[in-house]
Amino acid sequence: MLISLTTNYSPKRCNSGDACSLEGGYKLSGLFDYLVYAASQEHSWNSQLGDAATRQTVAGFLLHQHLCSTSAECCNPYPHDQKIRDHAIIITPDHLPYITGNDIAGLVENVGPDVTAFKRGDRVLAQADTSTPDGGGVQQYAVVRADMVTPVPRSLSLDEVATLPTVAMASFVALFHPSGLGLPAPYSKASESFAYQRHSLLVIGGGSNCGKLAIQLARLVGFGKIIAFAAKTPGKGAELEELGATHILDRHAEDVAEQCRSIVGDGLIYALDTVNHGPAAHTLGVSLLSNSERGTLATLLPGGVDETKVGNKAAGYEVKFTQGSGHLHRELGQQFWKHLPSWLEAGKIRPLRYRTISGQNEKAVNEALDAYCDGASVTKANVHPHAP
Ligand SMILES: NC(=O)c1ccc[n+]([C@@H]2O[C@H](COP(=O)([O-])OP(=O)(O)OC[C@H]3O[C@@H](n4cnc5c(N)ncnc54)[C@H](OP(=O)(O)O)[C@@H]3O)[C@@H](O)[C@H]2O)c1
Repeated sequence: MLISLTTNYSPKRCNSGDACSLEGGYKLSGLFDYLVYAASQEHSWNSQLGDAATRQTVAGFLLHQHLCSTSAECCNPYPHDQKIRDHAIIITPDHLPYITGNDIAGLVENVGPDVTAFKRGDRVLAQADTSTPDGGGVQQYAVVRADMVTPVPRSLSLDEVATLPTVAMASFVALFHPSGLGLPAPYSKASESFAYQRHSLLVIGGGSNCGKLAIQLARLVGFGKIIAFAAKTPGKGAELEELGATHILDRHAEDVAEQCRSIVGDGLIYALDTVNHGPAAHTLGVSLLSNSERGTLATLLPGGVDETKVGNKAAGYEVKFTQGSGHLHRELGQQFWKHLPSWLEAGKIRPLRYRTISGQNEKAVNEALDAYCDGASVTKANVHPHAP
């Protein structure tokens, strides 16, 4: 069972020094065993369905399906899971028991009595709601609000779409929610009159999975220039270009900032950093924002700015750390899930590359998590817990 994956997770030290340490994280080290214990408990699906508060909103996934050895019910280990495993961040004692697993694709097992949009057997995709024990992906059934679930287009496999929920939602929130850049969302009236073509978006971490989704979303709304900072590795440039980046700059180049300025001049007011964290982590992003117009850097990780190195921001600037959860930003989340199938069908949003881990292979899962820890280029790993 999938559950045994979690019971065998082994806390591991980062190989890259303090690269993984996040400030403000809650240290749970002694409680890790409890977490694992909690994850091994089966949660009562039926009791959820009987709860009046969830009558209209609950859908469910079957992630545990002995009979379908070829089925692709899957859940992929995510950077959050690595941070939780190694540093016990994100969760607090209030969140216990905490069930990990953010991205889930599978079959609807059952629906609440007032749910009409889904029925048993539908192929669906969702971002797990890990704020409740019944919501986490790594367990027999995950319970999700029906308005936070989307049908999977026939043309795509569950494996393909399972690569998307959290990275796509994180970038979507960072770009279109007021807690991030607050840009007009692609389906909104406001987006029709917004001069996207005249603006540039800088994506620091363009090579990350979140970055790849940000690039695609930026292309979807029509940004004139989409500049990605990414490592210059074979094939990477072509991949990011295909996703929509108009300029790919080698993030290791000493003059990467100058290269960026030569493209955007003093006109950059929208930037997103998907990867950096730490005391002065957002200095580079802020330094590239316009000096004469007020710009905003949205970030997926918390961090500070070295004010002595950002230039004279006469009009000021903002740095906004965003939380990419559709459950937290429900209105935007609902719209995202509503529109995602059509974007997928039209090829406007493409799934990420993935590999699969068959069976209850805790060694492979831990290695997948280690890759996040070590800052390497990560191909998403989909776990098929019931495959041989
Ligand atoms: N706030 C939220 O709600 C939220 C949501 C989702 C994710 N996150 C966090 O966002 C981070 C990114 O997640 P992810 O899934 O996209 O991770 P990921 O795909 O594993 O990102 C790793 C990649 O980022 C690139 N990278 C690493 N350091 C970089 C640097 N200094 N500058 C530019 N690029 C760099 C590298 O690509 P190249 O070598 O190809 O450049 C690396 O392969 C994670 O820490 C995750 O926990 C936060």
